[in-house]
Amino acid sequence: MNSTIEKLLNDQIKYEASAAMQYLAMASWADIEGYSGVAEFFYAQSEEERLHMTKLVKFVNERGGKVIVPALEKPKGDFNSLNALFEKFLNSEIFVTEQINHIIYECLQHKDYNVHNFMQWYVTEQLEEEATARTLLDKLNIIGEDKSGHYMFDRDILTIVADAGEAPV
Ligand code: FEO
Repeated sequence: MNSTIEKLLNDQIKYEASAAMQYLAMASWADIEGYSGVAEFFYAQSEEERLHMTKLVKFVNERGGKVIVPALEKPKGDFNSLNALFEKFLNSEIFVTEQINHIIYECLQHKDYNVHNFMQWYVTEQLEEEATARTLLDKLNIIGEDKSGHYMFDRDILTIVADAGEAPV
């Protein structure tokens, strides 16, 4: 495996692992704050990111590369509001999308069509996850400070995700 691509895939393993831990911290915050629906959503999202990480680990190993399981920074655990929570979610997904696009670009530069092909799954996944994050943040922006709106958002979040065309897990 080309060393630049190998390094980028290892970086991506770290980003997926970081997202898994960040979403776990967000689920825990929501749990403590009494938003059980939001907590369930982020527990599931955290598991998804862990699977994204593991898929990369297995792929790098299959291709004869060397995986470096990374140390991670402490995720953000405190949020001022549901809006702040979902802004973090959207920004995290936008960041991951940018990194995946960078890998795709480098694959083409190095003519690594095998990794390019493998990464298409992540491109599709990111489209869905960014759309979900935007949909949920849009809903919260409409709700504003209304507490009963927050109650209904928390009650309905898994339905909202399903209605947006994506299963929550
Ligand atoms: Fe696997 Fe949503 O980044």
